[in-house]
Amino acid sequence: MLEIIIFASGRGSNLMAIQEEIESGRLKGNIRAVISNKEDAPALSFAQSKGINAIWIDPKAEGGRRGFERKALQEIGRIGSDCIALAGYMLILSGEFIRDYGKPILNIHPALLPSFPGATAQKDAIEYGVKYSGCTVHFVDEGVDTGPIIAQRAVPVLDADDVESLSARILAEEHKLYPEVLTLMAQGRIHLIDHKVYIDLLDERNYFR
Ligand code: GAR
Repeated sequence: MLEIIIFASGRGSNLMAIQEEIESGRLKGNIRAVISNKEDAPALSFAQSKGINAIWIDPKAEGGRRGFERKALQEIGRIGSDCIALAGYMLILSGEFIRDYGKPILNIHPALLPSFPGATAQKDAIEYGVKYSGCTVHFVDEGVDTGPIIAQRAVPVLDADDVESLSARILAEEHKLYPEVLTLMAQGRIHLIDHKVYIDLLDERNYFR
């Protein structure tokens, strides 16, 4: 069983997709806790509705981002976990946090990295004029959206797209890709060698839908 801690700052639709994969039995894992920097994050109320430990840590009360991270590490140490999955978590994790946690941290980003890192990926893709964008699940390192890429899914960018329509098309793919990657993690099929990720596809078919 893959013991997962989710970090989320907002809506929580990726969290919901992951929880659905667990409930369907495909992903052999558990969400041990959802941790948020936002008291009113819908992700927290969703967690509560599912009986998942929902933890709000106020960065202001903890003296800033590092205080938030130290408190989060205490909570995570108490709860136990195999990995952290960032799902719409909008703060940058410090190198100290990544080192101190010492286990895999995954993120989903709404662009085909290394193109369009940062907080306005869909807007940047439209403004640049790319014909395809998509989503990327990657390991988190100390840079901003620079960690080793685990899996990606592409979608077309249409002339008529605005940020909302492109985001929705990408989000539909995120909801498939993130649970699939976590399922592969739970099966021990994701290997990081230097900065490259290799996935064991043990059966004949390609795992990805
Ligand atoms: C998702 O599109 C995710 O890729 C993006 O925020 C959204 C969260 O949606 N993450 C980032 O931009 C991280 N830099 P959700 O809260 O409904 O899962």
